[in-house]
Amino acid sequence: MSQDRLYDALLDALAATFGHHPGFRVTHAKGVLLRGTFAASPSAPVLSRAAHLQGQPESVLLRFSNFSGVPATEDGDPQASPHGLAVRFALPDGEFTDIVTHSFNGFPVATPEDFLSFLQGIAANVATPPNPLPLQTFLANHPRAEHFLQAPKPAPSSYASVEYFGVNALVFSNRQGEVFIGRYRIEPLLAEPALSDQQAAAMPADYLQDEIGARLTRGAVKLRLVVQLAAPGDAIEDGSIPWSRSHEEVELGILTLDTLVPAEEQQLAQQRLDFNPGRLPDGIAPSHDPMILARERLYQRAMLRRQQP
Ligand code: HEM
Repeated sequence: MSQDRLYDALLDALAATFGHHPGFRVTHAKGVLLRGTFAASPSAPVLSRAAHLQGQPESVLLRFSNFSGVPATEDGDPQASPHGLAVRFALPDGEFTDIVTHSFNGFPVATPEDFLSFLQGIAANVATPPNPLPLQTFLANHPRAEHFLQAPKPAPSSYASVEYFGVNALVFSNRQGEVFIGRYRIEPLLAEPALSDQQAAAMPADYLQDEIGARLTRGAVKLRLVVQLAAPGDAIEDGSIPWSRSHEEVELGILTLDTLVPAEEQQLAQQRLDFNPGRLPDGIAPSHDPMILARERLYQRAMLRRQQP
């Protein structure tokens, strides 16, 4: 299958899973936009020469989201997890760069081809009449996908109270020509316990959106952006395999979230925005992880599709 056909098939499979919701993202459909600033840490230029990592505070746009492609999925619904956090950094030359993360350390599969088989297996499993065999066969051969499905993904008490993972490895180059391979992680300065399943089920439909708005009225929210460095033997090309938490990490800086985009601007602004994990500045490049190029192309295609009536 050509790459273009693969990307179209992936978008079709996601649309078949979640249905057609004009104007909304085919996955991570429900979200909330915030503004803030990013202040790079002194350790950031050691890792990369990227312009936003050199020390001057820059403005950022952030979108917290729920996994589901159904905009009406309630915030406490299991389909809302993993939650997403996309961040757009303004660069001094008027350009920008994006990070797209979610609240699970890993992904079900390593390649876009496997993701298509996984989605098709799920579709067959919930079709009428259901055919569970393709999914069973896939999971038997892909233990990380089985782990992803089975792993607890508890609902957070706040979008700002959980960790988010970039999953796919990138190559960071500094001014001295040194090169480092790493994965992004974004963490709250103070983690808070997640909700139990019973608590989540009893929460109002928009509790995460309401909570982040209320939190900002009490003061700015801070998140730390770090890069977890690859250790010898780590799977660079396979985002389905988490790296050990004992790895060396470099702090890139602190994100300060201070403003909710006004309610009347949220929908249009979200529709127009195209966060893309492949939009990288000089000093940060794709690794050999095949998902990075695939995600770059896919998100572009998804954006074009959702702008059509
Ligand atoms: C083959 C694998 C993947 C596929 C097919 C895929 C597909 C998509 C698509 C089509 C969108 C909507 C883009 C748009 O309309 O703007 C999207 C958004 C998103 N994806 Fe993925 N994705 C993949 C991997 C990942 C991974 C590994 C992560 C986590 C690190 C992730 C997290 C997100 C998030 C958080 C959003 C919402 C971004 C926003 O707020 O605009 N995805 N994905």
